[in-house]
Amino acid sequence: MPVFVCFLLGLTPLLWLLLYSWQGMLGANPVELWLRLSGDWGLWCLLLTLALSPLSRWRMLQGVLRWRRMVGLFSFFYALLHLTVYLVLERALSWEDIAQDIGKRPYITVGILAFVLLLPLALTSPRRIMLRLGSTRIGWHRLVYPAALLVILHFFLQTRADWHVPLLHAVVLAVLLAWRLVR
Ligand code: HEM
Repeated sequence: MPVFVCFLLGLTPLLWLLLYSWQGMLGANPVELWLRLSGDWGLWCLLLTLALSPLSRWRMLQGVLRWRRMVGLFSFFYALLHLTVYLVLERALSWEDIAQDIGKRPYITVGILAFVLLLPLALTSPRRIMLRLGSTRIGWHRLVYPAALLVILHFFLQTRADWHVPLLHAVVLAVLLAWRLVR
């Protein structure tokens, strides 16, 4: 699959959201939909990044590992979009309200911690920096494990009703981490 196809696939969720926003088809609370869906895509790309190693063990999927960096960067891209929607559209850059949120809503604090752990992964992804870091990059990239665990905790803490949704994501993450431990 050519690189630009993988890139377009990664951008499709955002293009879909932009199109539906432009057509006014996002229902009564478009900001909440932007916030939730950008969070979902950030998490799904993160889980897909972790799934590429076990998938590449299958002979016919051996080549999927070359997409790992791009999928990982899309996870960060959607997490960044998620944070931007929260700061700008949900909280209108009111630092007072944001500080109150951090104080009162643990899931916001956990979300910020997860984002802080994803940041060095994104910053050390450009090829030039990867080459300069050499094998120390592997240490940095182990941050993906606590980051993924924090995102799942963030998902659980913000859930008011359907526990089975974050639970399903937690099971997928547990399987991906168990595979690594066994291996
Ligand atoms: C940077 C700090 C973060 C903030 C301030 C934040 C804020 C929020 C808020 C306010 C919600 C609730 C949305 C609602 O139902 O109204 C939420 C949900 C969510 N966030 Fe975050 N978040 C952060 C980081 C992250 C990161 C890094 C990820 C994943 C990579 C993520 C993934 C999710 C997911 C999956 C949901 C649940 C969406 C759903 O209900 O389908 N968040 N976040």
